[in-house]
Amino acid sequence: MCCSVLPLLVTLLLSDITASWEERGVDYKYGGQAELQDKQHFCTWKCLQFTLQWPGAFCKSLKDEILCIIPPGIDSWTIHGLWPMKAHSCCNCWPMFPSDVQELEAELSQHWPSLLKIKSSFRFWNEEWRKHGACAACVEGLNSPLRFFQICLKLRARYDFHRFNFSCRFLEEAGITPSCERVYKAEEVNEVLVPHLGDQYEIQCITDDQGREVWFQVKVKLSRNLTIGCDHHGDPSRDPGPGLSEPSSGHPCPPHVPVYYYPINHQQPQRPCG
Ligand SMILES: *[C@@H]1O[C@H](CO)[C@@H](O)[C@H](O)[C@H]1NC(C)=O
Repeated sequence: MCCSVLPLLVTLLLSDITASWEERGVDYKYGGQAELQDKQHFCTWKCLQFTLQWPGAFCKSLKDEILCIIPPGIDSWTIHGLWPMKAHSCCNCWPMFPSDVQELEAELSQHWPSLLKIKSSFRFWNEEWRKHGACAACVEGLNSPLRFFQICLKLRARYDFHRFNFSCRFLEEAGITPSCERVYKAEEVNEVLVPHLGDQYEIQCITDDQGREVWFQVKVKLSRNLTIGCDHHGDPSRDPGPGLSEPSSGHPCPPHVPVYYYPINHQQPQRPCG
């Protein structure tokens, strides 16, 4: 008895609350009345940046004391985030809970894992939602944690195995494979990527402790409607600079310096080449 009545009650309560927000003209998600005049600022952005990271190099980018972990089964590019560019700060008023993304958990764990031992994957997703997702949520299709993460997974799939496998196989076909010895020119990588990503993406490197340039990220610029490329100018909103537990943030891979594309080493994530 109680079990059949309870959901109804919850539904009623929720619709009651929703109705009262609407009556007051308050947009809960964007911060209530005090911030109403700022509301338009939350949706001024025109472009998004979708960032993928290469676990083999991400772990190398960490300071030694921070333990990296590449979960078993992770052998490809993973998601770092989807960031509105030049967005004003997101209001911290749309909390995300594990139940919001429960149905995506398996997929997110596979494609968007936290690689830091001290940070759970949920914490990573939650931070990305808070810092970026809540800003993107003013656009239809991205307007809830579930939709935001669904879109991110779709974007990753778009750059994956079947169409153009951004990860290993696609690059592999072009002869670009992870290696401890081989080096590539940024130009070679770009030749492979440009036909698929246009000319508005960036391959990013970190400089490792041996002074080598190591490919670790790709940032793809997208329009609001998620098509590749975006003609509005503006500085990308960067993830805030490296904190204690953050990797260095990287730089565009230099055009005239050999670039390493290290393999993923599950046993020694931070020392992929021993
Ligand atoms: C997506 O947005 C861009 C930039 O606003 C526009 O040029 C393009 O035609 C749009 N594409 C689709 C499929 O709506």
